[in-house]
Amino acid sequence: MDYSSLVTSAFEARKNAYVPYSKFAVGAALLTADGRIYLGCNIENVTLTPTVCAERTAFFKAISEDVREFAAIAVVGGLVDLGERQVDFCTPCGVCRQVMVEFCGPDFKIVTARSRDDWREYTLDQLLPEASKPKF
Ligand code: THU
Repeated sequence: MDYSSLVTSAFEARKNAYVPYSKFAVGAALLTADGRIYLGCNIENVTLTPTVCAERTAFFKAISEDVREFAAIAVVGGLVDLGERQVDFCTPCGVCRQVMVEFCGPDFKIVTARSRDDWREYTLDQLLPEASKPKF
């Protein structure tokens, strides 16, 4: 699967990151099962704990609009000062992985990229095996 355009969207989302404290800007582009893309960036807070990651911003935007089927998310992150060329592979934190488990199946794709043509692809099950899953 060619994720270059989803990665490009994640780089666009990263431009809006609000990161006065860590200076680490992250962008995420969430692809829905029907082909829509929701963007997210990290949004920090002076008291730290209200900070939200780029991935959860994208998920919560989509979920709040009643979207429930997801295919993939692309994530790019790096220090602001170093610019786009210096982003390194950034994988979702444990809290974001658990949010993904709530709404996605084990084959949901997580793509982390250093550039538009240099990415790594994982499944959610690889990044959070034996997860606590909702049982309805
Ligand atoms: N962050 C994300 O937004 N996503 C990740 O995958 C890793 C971490 C944010 C949280 C915080 O604003 C900054 O990056 C440094 O940890």
